[in-house]
Amino acid sequence: MNDLEIHLDERDLAASLRADVTAGLTAPAKWLPPKWFYDARGSELFEEITRLPEYYPTRAERAILTARAGDIARITEAKTMVELGSGSSEKTRLLLDALLAQGTLGAFVPLDVSASALADAVARLDAAYPALSVRGIVGDYTRHLRHLPDGGSRLIAFLGGTIGNLLPAERATFLRDVRGVLDDGEWLLLGADLVKDPAVLVPAYDDAAGVTADFNRNVLRVINGHLDATFDPGLFAHVAVWDASNEWIEMRLRATETMRVSVRGLGLEVDFARGETLRTEISAKFRPERLESELADAGFRVRHRWTDDDGLFTVALAQAA
Ligand code: SAH
Ligand code: AVI
Repeated sequence: MNDLEIHLDERDLAASLRADVTAGLTAPAKWLPPKWFYDARGSELFEEITRLPEYYPTRAERAILTARAGDIARITEAKTMVELGSGSSEKTRLLLDALLAQGTLGAFVPLDVSASALADAVARLDAAYPALSVRGIVGDYTRHLRHLPDGGSRLIAFLGGTIGNLLPAERATFLRDVRGVLDDGEWLLLGADLVKDPAVLVPAYDDAAGVTADFNRNVLRVINGHLDATFDPGLFAHVAVWDASNEWIEMRLRATETMRVSVRGLGLEVDFARGETLRTEISAKFRPERLESELADAGFRVRHRWTDDDGLFTVALAQAA
């Protein structure tokens, strides 16, 4: 029995997009939250990114899960697995397979803000795992954690390094909120990208084929579509820079000429100077000690932490303590 539970319908999404666009595009340093990349096209572009030669995180995390899914199943004995920001849930199948082989798992609950990606994933999982209960939740993991299923041997997976897309203060609140919904002894499986040479990092966010540039500009198409705005995505250059002091990649869109954009749905006129940038995403990279101390601050104990053979990415298995 598989279904989709909607906590973020078109009206909620529109209201939240209006608030974010108003705040972000009227700020002295313009910015937008990265969740607005992910309409149907944005979710497809992200999947394309995961297959790019330069984008190593997906492959590295898959290698870790391939090696460790059995351990994770044995240690957690999870009966319910929740996945936040689940997207296609492709890598997650490694965990589902291991937990099912062990005989503990009864339910899988993916949660994502992208209704299209979630509906696709749920349909595919439904076909592949007929004996598993799959309940998709369309929701925002910074707002809708209270809708997760109740306790009893739960494992919450947050994969892909998406934790790095939250600003440090948001990240601390998020981890505490996740801890808050778990009972003592339940589990968080957290994938995080590691600090490394910018010569490896930057191309991962500025690939030769221009897929990441297209993904970045997609946020402008989303605003045009939902808020009747007049952005010309072709007039914005894709920028990916390594911020060494914050240890994060920052993605921006840079106006290639002076322009005025109308966001008609908000009655807002937004001026861009030539060369002005709009921050669309941060992707923080971690040092293992910092990751572990942030988890500890949120009330987790890291029981295991694994890294791929190339030392690119890490997966931490943390217990609510
Ligand atoms: N976990 C997958 C997908 C990562 S892409 C992987 O590892 O490949 C990030 C996913 O998080 C996208 O599917 C996006 O729609 C979702 N997402 C982004 N911000 C979100 C938010 N605030 N709440 C819920 N989902 C979010
Ligand atoms: C989803 N998230 C972990 C990706 C990342 O690497 O920060 C999103 C992304 N942005 C550009 N490329 C991929």
